[in-house]
Formats: sequence, structure tokens, C-alpha cells
Amino acid sequence: MEALMNGIHLHYVQAGKGAPLLLVHGYPLDHTLWQPQVDGLADANVARVIAPDLRGFGQSDAPEGVYTMETHADDLRALLDVLQVERVVVCGLSMGGYIALAFWRKYADRVRGLILVDTRAGADAPAARQARLDMVEQVRQHGSAPAADAMLSRLLASSTHQSRPALVESVHAMMLRQPLVGIIGAQLGMAERPDSTALLSTITVPTLVVFGAEDIITPAETEGRSLADAIPGAKLVIIPNAGHLSNLEQPEVFNAAVREFLLARDV
Ligand code: MLT
Repeated sequence: MEALMNGIHLHYVQAGKGAPLLLVHGYPLDHTLWQPQVDGLADANVARVIAPDLRGFGQSDAPEGVYTMETHADDLRALLDVLQVERVVVCGLSMGGYIALAFWRKYADRVRGLILVDTRAGADAPAARQARLDMVEQVRQHGSAPAADAMLSRLLASSTHQSRPALVESVHAMMLRQPLVGIIGAQLGMAERPDSTALLSTITVPTLVVFGAEDIITPAETEGRSLADAIPGAKLVIIPNAGHLSNLEQPEVFNAAVREFLLARDV
């Protein structure tokens, strides 16, 4: 499916009935990151799952420019308007989590609940910001393959690398097929994202925080715990044998946590 909004075409998939659940992918990925959730949560009317490709990724348009988290939030708000969805549970992984927090900052009245997955509230430290700018230069000169190769080893748990070569290959392929303009726009946008730490105490909707126990990009014991501690009433679930892409590496455990959250919290 495709929606025309904010001057671009946004591709999305939609399945199931129930509480609307907006799945926001990370970087440099696309909506297929959420295939196990589209398959596993749209059944039994647990949720109406909406999984877009963010601008610059997947089959959505990739305009030149800096994709701030607010720009993505505006795109998602416009998509909800097109779909006539008033309020959603926003589930975002990593960059998707940064966007979920930007969405809360701008459009809290459209949020029924939040699911923050392998992400963080803080802005980049100066060295991390510089690393993004260096990566943009590298991508401009050499394309995305070296960056994708370097990132692959850090995205998944060691057990995933050892025992699930097909999954590792599909994540690698997902990264390699993303447009260069999108990769650059997202890196520049993430580099200038604000610190959202002070926002966390303003969250008044039910919130689930999910982390892979082996996530080395956003470690569960530090980033996960501090996120959950700072959000009133938030529940933290740490999933064993999963890295940064916990929804993809352990979909059954992940889906069970989300299903329980959606049903028990009545969001
Ligand atoms: C992601 O998975 O979305 C990225 O690790 C986010 C980032 O680069 O900060």
C-alpha cells in the first residue's frame, strides 16, 4: 500500500484488527524488519498492525535532505490521518524509538501507548555525532556496503550469528538495499536529534520497554533500565539470546510480551 503525504509517497503494510499498532523500524532497515510481528500479532485480532517504510527507506520515496526525528513524526502523523486512525500504540526500534519519542513530544494526543525497543533517550555524545558524519562521507565515497558490513556484526547476538545464517543474510541484504540518499538523510537527522531524557517523566500512557540481553549498541542493563526507570509505570522485558534486533531474533518471546502488554494494559 502507498500513501501520498507531506509531498512524498510512503509505503506501508497493514494487517489485522484490534488496537492500532504502529511499527517504526530502525536504521538502515525497512518495514520488513517487522515481518514476524505482522505475521504474529495481526492474527487473532490482537492488533491492527501498521508497518511503514520511513522516508528514505524500503519502497518509500527518498528525497534529498536531513531527516530529523520530527520530520519522521510528521510523516507518521500524516499517515495515521490518511488511514483515519485517531490514536495508536507506537512501537519503535532504535532509530524508531527516537522517532517514537519525537512523536510523543509533538503528538501525545495521538498516542495510546508506547513500546520502546533497543533504543535510548539521550542525544549523541560528540564522538558519536562525529562518527555519523564520518559514515556519511564514507557512504558518499564508497556506497553503503562497507557500512552495512561493519554494522552487521554489532546488530545481532552472537548466538544468532552462529546458528541462524539465513536470518543474518536477510538482515545484511535489508541494509544493502537501502538508498544512499536515505542512509545519509537518516544519519544527519539522528546526529542532530535532541536529548529526550527530560521527556520521559512526561509520558502518561502505558509503556513497555523491550531489550535484547546481548544488545551491544544499546545495552539492556544500562540503556534499557534507565529508560524504564525514568518512565512512570513502564515495564522492562529483557529477552535472552537476542541482540539489537530483538523482535527479529526472538519473535515468539517478543510477540508474547507485546500481546500481554496490549491485552493486560487495555491500550
Ligand atoms: C538503529 O538500529 O536504528 C541504529 O543503531 C540507531 C543509531 O544509529 O543510533
